[in-house]
Amino acid sequence: MKIEKFDTLPSTNQYCELLNLSETEEFTVIVARTQTAGIGQRGNHWEAEPGKNLTFSLVLKPTWLPIADQYQLTKAVSLGIADFLMPLITEGNRRVRIKWPNDIYVDDKKICGILITHRIAGGQIAASVVGIGLNVNQIDFPEWVPNPTSLSLLTGQEWPLDETLEKMLNCIAHRYNELRNNPIGTLDEPYLNMLLRRGKEAQYGYQGQTILATLLDVNRYGHLQLVTDKGERLSCQLKEIQFLY
Ligand code: BTN
Repeated sequence: MKIEKFDTLPSTNQYCELLNLSETEEFTVIVARTQTAGIGQRGNHWEAEPGKNLTFSLVLKPTWLPIADQYQLTKAVSLGIADFLMPLITEGNRRVRIKWPNDIYVDDKKICGILITHRIAGGQIAASVVGIGLNVNQIDFPEWVPNPTSLSLLTGQEWPLDETLEKMLNCIAHRYNELRNNPIGTLDEPYLNMLLRRGKEAQYGYQGQTILATLLDVNRYGHLQLVTDKGERLSCQLKEIQFLY
């Protein structure tokens, strides 16, 4: 594992996209103390107070993973982060959960976001850039950030960033190796078991309406599988459905 630290970058994901990934070692980690243009899902800005959080990207080379199964990488990374967080969040009945597709929540608040891009060459995944933003020591968040939390807010203590990063990377590496060394599908059940709202009826925004539906599963391609209160089956991609509270 090779960790390269920067004081300021526009975005660690963007930095990795510009690297010659064929000459970049697998498990190279690019960390920035401050990102001036951090990228979130759906093209949103990723907010992180300088010096208080972990914002980094990890270069992986899952050349052994069929393109059709690329969602397995999302499972491995989100499970690794959940594994890392679970023992730290010990107070009360708090629950670490994966909010489909790959946000990490503690109860109903978001602590970590993940953004994965794949580089495809010759019909296979040549490299993947896994961007991770973990809220660590930030206490105040701008109003526009939807339901944020941080390790400090949850535990009442400050966390050392370097040590936290190293432990988190080890947990991700463990799940990544589990994925690599086992038949495809090994992580399906652990991922499903961690899914927020699984098996529970809840409100969603779908085709401009509020619907009641129960989250059942995630298919091979990472599409969310639900059944509505009217018994209709839905299969949704990221932009097709919103979790409502
Ligand atoms: C999300 O919207 O939930 C995904 C957030 C991903 C943010 C991380 S921070 C490090 C890496 N670099 C970026 O520009 N984005 C990702």
